Amino acid sequence: MRRKIIAGNWKLNNIVRDSVILAQGLKPEVASVTDVEIVVCPVYTALESVGKAIESSNIKLGAQDMYWEDQGAFTGEVSGMLLKDVGCRYCIIGHSERRQYFGETNESVNKKVKAALKWGLRPIMCVGETLQEREAGTTFDVVRDHVEGGIAGLSEKEILDVVIAYEPVWAIGTGKNATPQQAQEVHAFIRGLLKKQYAAAAEEIIIQYGGSVKPDNAAELLSQEDIDGALVGGASLKVDSFTKIVKAASAKV
Ligand code: 13P
Repeated sequence: MRRKIIAGNWKLNNIVRDSVILAQGLKPEVASVTDVEIVVCPVYTALESVGKAIESSNIKLGAQDMYWEDQGAFTGEVSGMLLKDVGCRYCIIGHSERRQYFGETNESVNKKVKAALKWGLRPIMCVGETLQEREAGTTFDVVRDHVEGGIAGLSEKEILDVVIAYEPVWAIGTGKNATPQQAQEVHAFIRGLLKKQYAAAAEEIIIQYGGSVKPDNAAELLSQEDIDGALVGGASLKVDSFTKIVKAASAKV
C-alpha cells in the first residue's frame, strides 16, 4: 500500500510573512490527517520561517530546486546541503518551468537527483510532455526520456526515495487537467518502465500527478490505481483548497 503524498508547489509567490501565514493556516486544518504525507515548497527566502512554523506538525518542508554541488564558487545557487540545514525533507527537481525557462536538461536533473539523495532529501522529479508533443503522439517517448534520464544510475535502494511527478505541461496553470484516464495511462506506463529496472521497488515508488489539480477533480484523479498523490500549484496557495485536496487523498477523512 503506497502512502499518498500531496505537495504544494508555491512557485514564485508570497513574501516571508504571507508564506508563514499560509503555513500556519494550514497546520490545524490538516492536523487530523495521518495517512497522507503533506509537503509545502515555499520560495527559498521563506524556507526557514515556514520550517519553524510547521515544526512538530505533520507538514514537511520542501524546496523548489537545488544545485548539485555542495558549496563553492557557484554564485546564486543553493545546494542540498543548505536545504538540509534549514530543515527541508523534499526538493522538487526538473519542474517543466525550469526545463522551459532555465535550461534544465535530463543530465542536470540526474545530477540534482543524485545530490538530493546524498543529502537525505527526497527528490520530487518532474516529467511530462508539452501540448505539441502530445499532439505529435510522442508523449510516451518524452516521458520515457525524462524518467530514464533523470534516474540513470540509481540503485534499487535509492530509487525508493525518489518521488516521480507526472506533470503534463499543457495542464499546468491552464485549468485543463489531464482526465483521470489520461493520467492513469501515463502513470501505469511510468511504473512499467520502473519495473524493468527495479522489479521489486517499482510497486513502492510514489508517482504523483500535477497539473490543475483542484478540490473538485482531486478525488477522482487520486482514485486511479497508479496515482499516488498530487503536486499542486495554484490550489496550494489557499488554505481551503489545499486542505480539501489533502483530505481527498485520505482514506479516513
Ligand atoms: P497548477 O496546479 O497551478 O496547474 O500547477 C501545477 C504545477 O506545476 C505543480 O508543480
